[in-house]
Amino acid sequence: MSAEIIDGKKIAQSMREQLKERIANLQGVTPGLAVVLIGDNQASQTYVSMKQKACENLGIYSRLIRMPESVSESDLLSTINELNEDSTIHGILVQLPLPAHIDETSVIEAIIPAKDVDGFHPINVGRLQTGGEAFYPCTPNGIMKMLEYQGIDLTGKHAVVVGRSNIVGKPMGQLLLKESATVTYCHSKTADLKAHTKQADIVVAAAGIHNLITAEHIKEGAVVIDVGMNRDSEGKLCGDADYDSCKAKASAITPVPGGVGPMTITMLLFNTVESAERFSK
Ligand code: GUN
Repeated sequence: MSAEIIDGKKIAQSMREQLKERIANLQGVTPGLAVVLIGDNQASQTYVSMKQKACENLGIYSRLIRMPESVSESDLLSTINELNEDSTIHGILVQLPLPAHIDETSVIEAIIPAKDVDGFHPINVGRLQTGGEAFYPCTPNGIMKMLEYQGIDLTGKHAVVVGRSNIVGKPMGQLLLKESATVTYCHSKTADLKAHTKQADIVVAAAGIHNLITAEHIKEGAVVIDVGMNRDSEGKLCGDADYDSCKAKASAITPVPGGVGPMTITMLLFNTVESAERFSK
């Protein structure tokens, strides 16, 4: 079997077209996203500029607030409070990681849940489990949209999530459970990873380890979703799955790049538009 390639770019583009229509229906309200970037981390700067460009392309107002690495926690919290009260801003994102002297939990909890388009606030995390109006984290929610777009029914399927981060692994399992999958969480300390992944109908590889998942780890016909963003020895971008060997055995697979990546930013736009709609009600 050679797997169907799940084209994240194409799905993201189709979702962005739908978002354009939703923005046009907002009757004069322009969705606004504030991005707070602290320090000079190169990767963070790249991600933030990609987010801003995506906003501009869609007609979302984006405001970049840059603060020096030395910023105090109280100055950062004051800025977040101002954004919480700014009616032109519907989404607030503080780019992580933060400098060591700033407490990440305090910062995440300072953003009002109604503007927490990252879906990291404990209210949104809790509502993912218990129900109610919430924002879901962008990467796992983007994966759910990809599975839906591909027509992959999750009811009764066994999904194995490899990775337990707050941003991807943990919410991924919750979202799959919500769609009636049977979910197993594995991680870097799991004994005999292969014994678990070989039973999976769907493997989500989100451990940040290059070539962690090979053909030997999956069963014939499995769906492989690769969240990895690693660099190989030649500096080339690669995922957590060994693409060529898994592709020969899986029924569907996401490439890196061009798979999950384009969906993450699209879901940030999605959450920002959704927030503007909720505020306009
Ligand atoms: N740093 C890496 N990924 C993310 C993300 O999804 N949101 C924020 N705020 N920071 C990040």
